[in-house]
Amino acid sequence: MALLKVALSFLILTPALVKGQDDLGLSNGYTTFDAGSLKGEIVKSSQTLASLNSTGNEFDFLPSDRLAQLAFNGAHHLGDITFRYRTSSGGGWTSVDSASARKPVTTLNGTGQDVVAAADLTPTLPNGLPIKVTREWLKYENNFAVRFNITNNGNGSVELGSLGLPVSINNIFTGRSAEETQDKCAFADPYIGLDAGYVRVSHLEGTSNALVITPIGATKFEAWRFLREPQGNFGYQSQTFEGNYEWQIHSLAYAQNEWNSSKPWNEPTSKPLQSGEVYSVGLRFSIAEKIQTIEDAVIKTGSPLAVGIPGYVVPADSSARLYLNHTSPVKNIDAGGAFTITELSSSDSAYKLTPVASAWGRARVTISYEDGKTQTVHYKITKTAPSALADMGHFFSTAAYFNDTSDPFYRAPSIMTYDREVNKIVEQDARVWFAGISDEAGTGAYLGTAMKQFAQPNAEELSVVDEFVHETVVGTLQQNSSFGVIASAFYYEPGAVNYTYDNSFDWTSWTSWNKERAYTTRRAYNYIHPVATYWSLYRTARNYPDTKLRAEWSWYLGRAFNTTQYCLSNEGANCDYALVGLMGEWVLGELLKDLKREGMTSEASALEASMRYRANLWETQAIPFGSEMAWDSTGQEGVYYWTDYFNLPNTPTKAINSILAYMPTVAHWGWNGNARRYWDFIYGAKIQQIERQIHHYGSGLNSLPMLHSYEQNPKDNLYALRVGFAGNTAPLTNIDEGGFASAAFHSFPELLKWDPFSGDYGQGFLGLALGQTVYIVKEDKLGVQAFGGDIDETHSTARSTVVAPKDAVRKRVFVADLGLKVEISAGAIKEIVYDEGAQKLSLTVVPAVSDSVLQAKSAIVWLEQPGLDTVSFTVADAQQERGGFVVDLASGSASVEITKS
Ligand SMILES: *[C@@H]1O[C@H](CO)[C@@H](O)[C@H](O)[C@H]1NC(C)=O
Ligand SMILES: *[C@@H]1O[C@H](CO)[C@@H](O)[C@H](O)[C@H]1NC(C)=O
Ligand SMILES: *[C@@H]1O[C@H](CO)[C@@H](O)[C@H](O)[C@H]1NC(C)=O
Ligand SMILES: *[C@@H]1O[C@H](CO)[C@@H](O)[C@H](O)[C@H]1NC(C)=O
Ligand SMILES: *[C@@H]1O[C@H](CO)[C@@H](O)[C@H](O)[C@H]1NC(C)=O
Ligand SMILES: *[C@@H]1O[C@H](CO)[C@@H](O)[C@H](O)[C@H]1NC(C)=O
Ligand SMILES: *[C@@H]1O[C@H](CO)[C@@H](O)[C@H](O)[C@H]1NC(C)=O
Ligand SMILES: *[C@@H]1O[C@H](CO)[C@@H](O)[C@H](O)[C@H]1NC(C)=O
Repeated sequence: MALLKVALSFLILTPALVKGQDDLGLSNGYTTFDAGSLKGEIVKSSQTLASLNSTGNEFDFLPSDRLAQLAFNGAHHLGDITFRYRTSSGGGWTSVDSASARKPVTTLNGTGQDVVAAADLTPTLPNGLPIKVTREWLKYENNFAVRFNITNNGNGSVELGSLGLPVSINNIFTGRSAEETQDKCAFADPYIGLDAGYVRVSHLEGTSNALVITPIGATKFEAWRFLREPQGNFGYQSQTFEGNYEWQIHSLAYAQNEWNSSKPWNEPTSKPLQSGEVYSVGLRFSIAEKIQTIEDAVIKTGSPLAVGIPGYVVPADSSARLYLNHTSPVKNIDAGGAFTITELSSSDSAYKLTPVASAWGRARVTISYEDGKTQTVHYKITKTAPSALADMGHFFSTAAYFNDTSDPFYRAPSIMTYDREVNKIVEQDARVWFAGISDEAGTGAYLGTAMKQFAQPNAEELSVVDEFVHETVVGTLQQNSSFGVIASAFYYEPGAVNYTYDNSFDWTSWTSWNKERAYTTRRAYNYIHPVATYWSLYRTARNYPDTKLRAEWSWYLGRAFNTTQYCLSNEGANCDYALVGLMGEWVLGELLKDLKREGMTSEASALEASMRYRANLWETQAIPFGSEMAWDSTGQEGVYYWTDYFNLPNTPTKAINSILAYMPTVAHWGWNGNARRYWDFIYGAKIQQIERQIHHYGSGLNSLPMLHSYEQNPKDNLYALRVGFAGNTAPLTNIDEGGFASAAFHSFPELLKWDPFSGDYGQGFLGLALGQTVYIVKEDKLGVQAFGGDIDETHSTARSTVVAPKDAVRKRVFVADLGLKVEISAGAIKEIVYDEGAQKLSLTVVPAVSDSVLQAKSAIVWLEQPGLDTVSFTVADAQQERGGFVVDLASGSASVEITKS
């Protein structure tokens, strides 16, 4: 979240201290180069890169238009180098950074014909170094590259404890319109995989050429370090300028110091250099025709490539496949004891990884190739997905259950934000919504628990959520019989309430709303959380009629509808932000489907009318992904849903392209499917800073459109499935062994840990709950694959695939061949048999995923062909009800046969 107020305050820039300061020496002009697929300019004086353009579509990955305001000391550019060294004569690490105090570098002449420019960096480095650094920009096998030769020119030995190459690209959104941001800016994402590591850079637009940065020579990608820089002219480290990172070849000197309390992705190393020894490292820049072919571009450079199916998050009862592609054979593959690894018979460099019994948490797989290269692939092993959900529901409905009925803010009973560090509910915070059961940071705990009841209803947890709905959502969050939703139940107003506010907070902050501000009901985002909660209880009440909730199913459905309409009908007159895409509003699509299935036609039409207005508006906008922030990854989900629903011609594709640019796939559980978020640690977490978030709610939410677009068009579209599935599974990783779930993981190397607050976790969980599906896919290259389930290799044949679902929800299947999606309303899918020859799908459906959850007596099976307007399949021998087919589960199991109708 955040507020416009905050977004604007970021734009108030530091005064002109650095404005126009030309430490880079731009006034001495540029050298141009043309290296095939890339061309650009090098600043003559500093020999850093000024622009790097793909010749294919004339896109510059660097902020050349802003260079004059980025020419001050301390701002990093491509071509800079940082290192730490110590000498044999003892003493600590000395830090060196070529950007700190720039002086024109010494041009080297007479170098080879592929050398575009070369320089000795001595003038721009501190005096008296025992190290000499030269840098060459090269034409390199029809690509472009930079090479640094680091020479120990002292008499004794030197140890490089850190060596980093800044990767500064044009991720500066400050002062640009949405159109200009999309047109000019780029995103970079790392794969921290040693010799196989790379950085992928995508144009925000999502459709044009991408840049791939791979290592040359001995260069390894060991760590990804954020670079502290002056705030400069564009609000460095603000919501509109995340800042720059560097590719670290060695990181020991940081691991021993600033990072000594975190567990690094790779073993930290240093490099000893004997007197006279030269160490050559560098990066190669190549172009991928589009984002989807980045991996092909990586292979072309000679780097090893790893592709995991379904990805790099592996529930304890499942297995994962790993496909390696390299010119040299695998010598050894080692999982440090976390996985049993077997070679898949079908192909050479293909492996099956099965977690060992005790494994949980991060696991690193190290692959050594015959040519001496080493690659690391980063996994996360979770509990079985249903037991992770069971833990999560239990944890929040007990530990985070707030029942102090004397609370003057009327928050009891509720499920509140939880602080794992002190193991306490967050009863107060100067960012009042955290303790106010609204906004995102205040609702994550209850929303996650509520959506868990849809996926896996448990009687005790349900009654906690039901009490919360009747006593607190109604009455406290929605007051005076209105459907308006307040901004925060907690507020700071000592005169208005008999409450002891903790003096250690800064209550003068703009976030410490008084009662009047807290009780405003205009923020549209706040409506989705109660609506999703009502909807989840509707589904449970409807599907498990033996379990009595405090109201009939129709009440929950009616409240979900009325709450939505209060805010979004009438052109959104009651709300602000009603006309942008709202986090989690995919659930409104589910709500609409249910209104139709229940025959509530006037409500369904009314909801459709509200949504049509928004969708038509988005279709007219160049960049329809507005939010509270200047740039955001939150609106695409809702914008996609409704423009696709109404079959509008342009916007659905636009939304997918936008997501493609900010949601990468790489062989690392943290970045794979990690939709870009970098400011919500301030608005939703305990450790507050601008920092790339790993698996904040963007992953779960943006996965929904990605998966849906895949389902509409599965042919040759595995990339979309890989990205979407990764994002959708990500919310499993946030759940710890005790069931607490964190808002997001801190990616800065000094932290590398989950934030202690539950914060806005539940929004991503909503994505998981609505998205989890077993995908059965047949690929030319890889053969038959299952995402979200394990192929039963014993019982599968050439024509028939048997899959055991291993996903978190166990209610959905998609068969790519048929373009068919199946969903059950209740119970769990235990086995899937897809008979390709007969074009038939058979499901074994059971009353529940485990004994500890409600057992369904019957279920509805819904069939859909997302790529078509009609459905040409049917369930044999089944009655129709609620838009689907009824199956009886009273006997403890049902066999569902789905065939062409
Ligand atoms: C690279 O692109 C930028 C921005 O479009 C442009 O100003 C610059 O002249 C281009 N450089 C080359 C060498 O084409
Ligand atoms: C390289 O050539 C340039 C231009 O002729 C000259 O200014 C510079 O001093 C030369 N550099 C060296 C190290 O000789
Ligand atoms: C840097 O080292 C490479 C060998 O790794 C060599 O080919 C190149 O000429 C060296 N460049 C300079 C400027 O010394
Ligand atoms: C390195 O050794 C040479 C020869 O012994 C000596 O002249 C020079 O001063 C030494 N340099 C340093 C930096 O110690
Ligand atoms: C490796 O990738 C290349 C390029 O995409 C492809 O042609 C080749 O078939 C792949 N090899 C394997 C074993 O998958
Ligand atoms: C509040 O919850 C605690 C812990 O679950 C329980 O021991 C206590 O009885 C509850 N109090 C009320 C008033 O419900
Ligand atoms: C405030 O609350 C405390 C504790 O609940 C109570 O003892 C006190 O009487 C209250 N004061 C007022 C003015 O209501
Ligand atoms: C929803 O609003 C309608 C119209 O105001 C009202 O008739 C109905 O009772 C409401 N439903 C619920 C569950 O509050």
